[in-house]
Amino acid sequence: MSVTRTTDPFEIDFRKKFELTDKVIIITGACGLVGRAFCEAVAQYGAHVVVADIALAEPEKFAQSLAERHNRKMLGIAIDVSSRNDIENLKTTVLSTFNRIDGLVNGHQNKTHLKFVPFEEIKDENWDTVVEINLKGTFLTCQIIGSYMAQQGKGSIINIPSTYSVVAPNQNLYKGTSLGCPAEYSASKGGVDALSRYLASYWAAKGVRVNMITPHGVWNNHEEQFEKNFANFSPLQRLSYNHEVAGALIYLLSDASSYVTGDNMKVEGGWTVW
Ligand SMILES: NC(=O)c1ccc[n+]([C@@H]2O[C@H](COP(=O)([O-])OP(=O)(O)OC[C@H]3O[C@@H](n4cnc5c(N)ncnc54)[C@H](O)[C@@H]3O)[C@@H](O)[C@H]2O)c1
Repeated sequence: MSVTRTTDPFEIDFRKKFELTDKVIIITGACGLVGRAFCEAVAQYGAHVVVADIALAEPEKFAQSLAERHNRKMLGIAIDVSSRNDIENLKTTVLSTFNRIDGLVNGHQNKTHLKFVPFEEIKDENWDTVVEINLKGTFLTCQIIGSYMAQQGKGSIINIPSTYSVVAPNQNLYKGTSLGCPAEYSASKGGVDALSRYLASYWAAKGVRVNMITPHGVWNNHEEQFEKNFANFSPLQRLSYNHEVAGALIYLLSDASSYVTGDNMKVEGGWTVW
């Protein structure tokens, strides 16, 4: 993108910098808790949303509801992020529908980590599935969609690691609950973090910005004890809501963040400051 060369702020329309009008934004895991808020927020800022999720999540249905709500063309497509064929097909379908791709948001995750398994008991299959979806899935979308962006000389990619790729989980958080965060989740998200930094540097000269958003403790009808424990350990003393994560996405996808790459924007209520 071309950036206005000026020292005069009166020449700048700052609100316009946040607009996503007519941009085409692909969101994986789009039907999930955070993904749904991402889709609605991006649609409110004027974008065509590509709702990409597994078939079971019915991405076409959600895309249809967004299209009706915003009176704009949207696309829903069933994918498995760990399949190279599916991501190649995603790219081809988006380009034949819209003829452009401006943003890629990797919001998918494998859910097996919600059933906590102690480190001593993690099975190879569990480890492989989580790494395959969380890390390899992000690699494939970045490689296939990001390479197209690099060829075009512009694009914005946002990957989603985790607080637990920044710090280790405080095991006291889970006391009196059935919850926990297993090692394979942290490890896969650490890979997402490293890959994102690598690509931020690798594609910087090609006009592709690669950033991260780290959500934390997004409320989803959690067990009461967990919510209490969380409040005790959190500087902001509460869980977050999915819509609170979306502001960061608009910033990072839009021209408002034109000089930002390789950043990890933590929407974590101050969890890692103390
Ligand atoms: N919720 C939180 O508190 C929190 C905290 C830190 C990080 N995150 C990260 O934020 C992102 C969104 O989290 P969420 O809470 O919305 O998760 P979620 O489980 O509600 O949604 C994840 C989505 O990914 C989809 N998905 C699963 N496997 C897939 C595959 N193989 N191919 C394509 N899609 C697949 C699921 O169908 C689902 O719609 C994830 O990357 C997660 O790790 C979440």
